Amino acid sequence: MEKRVHLFLPLLVCTANVLAGLAPFTEAAESKSSFDDNFSKSCPETNFKTSADGQIWYLSLDKQAGCGFMTKQRYRFGWFSMKLKLVGGDSAGVVTAYYMCTENAAGPERDELDFEFLGNRTGQPYIIQTNVYKNGTGNREMRHSLWFNPTEDYHEYAFLWNNEQILFVVDQVPIRVYKNTNYTNGFFPNQKPMYLFSSIWNADDWATRGGLEKTDWIKAPFVSSYTDFVADGCQWEDPYPACVSTTTEHWWDQYNAWHLSEDQTMDYAWVQRNLVVYDYCKDTKRFATLPEECWLNESIS
Ligand SMILES: *[C@@H]1O[C@H](CO)[C@@H](O)[C@H](O)[C@H]1NC(C)=O
Ligand SMILES: *[C@@H]1O[C@H](CO)[C@@H](O)[C@H](O)[C@H]1NC(C)=O
Ligand SMILES: *[C@@H]1O[C@H](CO)[C@@H](O)[C@H](O)[C@H]1NC(C)=O
Ligand SMILES: *[C@@H]1O[C@H](CO)[C@@H](O)[C@H](O)[C@H]1NC(C)=O
Ligand SMILES: *[C@@H]1O[C@H](CO)[C@@H](O)[C@H](O)[C@H]1NC(C)=O
Repeated sequence: MEKRVHLFLPLLVCTANVLAGLAPFTEAAESKSSFDDNFSKSCPETNFKTSADGQIWYLSLDKQAGCGFMTKQRYRFGWFSMKLKLVGGDSAGVVTAYYMCTENAAGPERDELDFEFLGNRTGQPYIIQTNVYKNGTGNREMRHSLWFNPTEDYHEYAFLWNNEQILFVVDQVPIRVYKNTNYTNGFFPNQKPMYLFSSIWNADDWATRGGLEKTDWIKAPFVSSYTDFVADGCQWEDPYPACVSTTTEHWWDQYNAWHLSEDQTMDYAWVQRNLVVYDYCKDTKRFATLPEECWLNESIS
């Protein structure tokens, strides 16, 4: 059965492959049962807080632990957005993530779509890294700078996912377009349903200026804020098959969601000209032969 889902609920779920070793904490006393129905988290109490009305979630990182959460449900195709306000001030080494993944682990056959926000020294710009995994293989990084300061206010980050394309969207602007240019391919995640995840962790071995800038723990705790999660997609229900046939009733799987609109095309061209910091498809030092999705794409334009 397919379900159309709108969620404007407080999210509480914690996980993240990065939290390996951190046991799940139960939330039996949590008053918002709807919240617990739909999300789970495994943060220490000290690292997860909500606003008084329960609508904003604060995830923090300190020297002892990070924090993360995940949906209990999986989805296959749809629109999945979240508003985030990132750690301000000196956030070098700290990575905040909003991502989709087929499993709660870094398994060898997972599919995954990532937004990763790489912190920086005070006054230095955040970089947003995106990546796509298919059956355990990633190495499809792009990096963009942003046209706003993501630590000052909430901005919306979204995945639009159908069998034609995956868009990474920031405040309604597509910053990355990942096309399914070959239906028998090995690069486009489209078969397995995914959970939504968010997390914050220490990545000072690689994140900021390639790991040169270390996390300054005197500045801890580092806090990222989340609100307005929306999952407008096909909720996966066992037993298979669910979310298999595409129907025309879902806006996220109709013609207009398979291609960029004229406005999106212009915005995307502007992003390509001005904000791309790194594109693996241009990295001929790293790849003697560029991955097939890079060149298959060119013949299609
Ligand atoms: C939330 O949880 C309820 C109860 O388990 C379930 O019926 C509903 O489908 C879930 N909603 C989402 C969006 O996962
Ligand atoms: C997925 O990866 C696993 C392990 O890396 C491999 O054995 C398997 O053949 C792959 N499956 C597909 C469909 O490519
Ligand atoms: C396809 O082409 C666009 C435009 O050059 C590029 O941004 C994108 O990364 C390419 N790859 C895929 C899989 O769509
Ligand atoms: C599509 O992918 C399949 C499997 O990788 C490959 O055999 C085929 O040649 C590809 N098609 C094109 C047009 O490159
Ligand atoms: C951090 O700031 C430096 C200096 O402006 C910049 O080179 C770098 O790309 C920024 N972001 C990261 C993640 O290193």
